[in-house]
Amino acid sequence: MNTKKINPYTITFDLQNGLSSEKESTKRYLSDMSGMFADEAALASAIERNNGIIYEFYELDIPATKGDLQFGTSIVYPGTIGGEYYMTKGHFHIILDTAETYFCLAGQGYMLVEDPEGNWEALEVLPGRTVYVPGRYAHRSINTGTTPLITYFTYRADAGQDYKTIETKGFRKLLVARGGKPAIVDNPKWAV
Ligand code: NI
Repeated sequence: MNTKKINPYTITFDLQNGLSSEKESTKRYLSDMSGMFADEAALASAIERNNGIIYEFYELDIPATKGDLQFGTSIVYPGTIGGEYYMTKGHFHIILDTAETYFCLAGQGYMLVEDPEGNWEALEVLPGRTVYVPGRYAHRSINTGTTPLITYFTYRADAGQDYKTIETKGFRKLLVARGGKPAIVDNPKWAV
C-alpha cells in the first residue's frame, strides 16, 4: 500500500469521453462481469459475440492515507445484458463508513446504493448532478442511456473497495429495460 507523500499536481480528463491521455485507465470487460448479471446465458453469448469494455475508471497513484483523496472518472458504456443495463460491479468500502461523491459529466443513468441493513435507493444521475453516497452504502453506477455515462468520483484514499460481498450476494435490486424505460425489479439471485 502506497502511503508516500506526493507533490501537488494536475491531471486532465476529457469532458467528452471522460478519459485522460496522461494515465492508463483500469478496464473491465464483459468477461470480468461473471455472476454480476441475472441472465448468465445472455452474458456468455454477449462475450462470445464481442468481449468489449463495459466500463473503465481511474485508480491514481494516491497515497492510501485518511488525509488523501482518491479521485478520477468512471465511464460506463451503454448496453444491456438480458435486459439488464450495463453497470459497474459496485462495492462497499473496506472502511465501511467512508463516503464518496460522484459528479455526472455526461450521459444518464442511476446510482444504485444499499446498506447492510437493507436500505436501498436508485438515484437518478444526470449531467451537472452530484450523488452523495454516505458511508455504509454499497454503490453501483448503471447506464440507462444510449451514450457513455461519465462521472467524476472522490473518496478518502484509504477507504478501499470490498467487491467480494457484491460478487457473492449481488444487490437487492436490478435495473432492467421495460419498454425502453428503466424499471427497478427484485434481484432473483439475491441471497441473505
Ligand atoms: Ni466507492
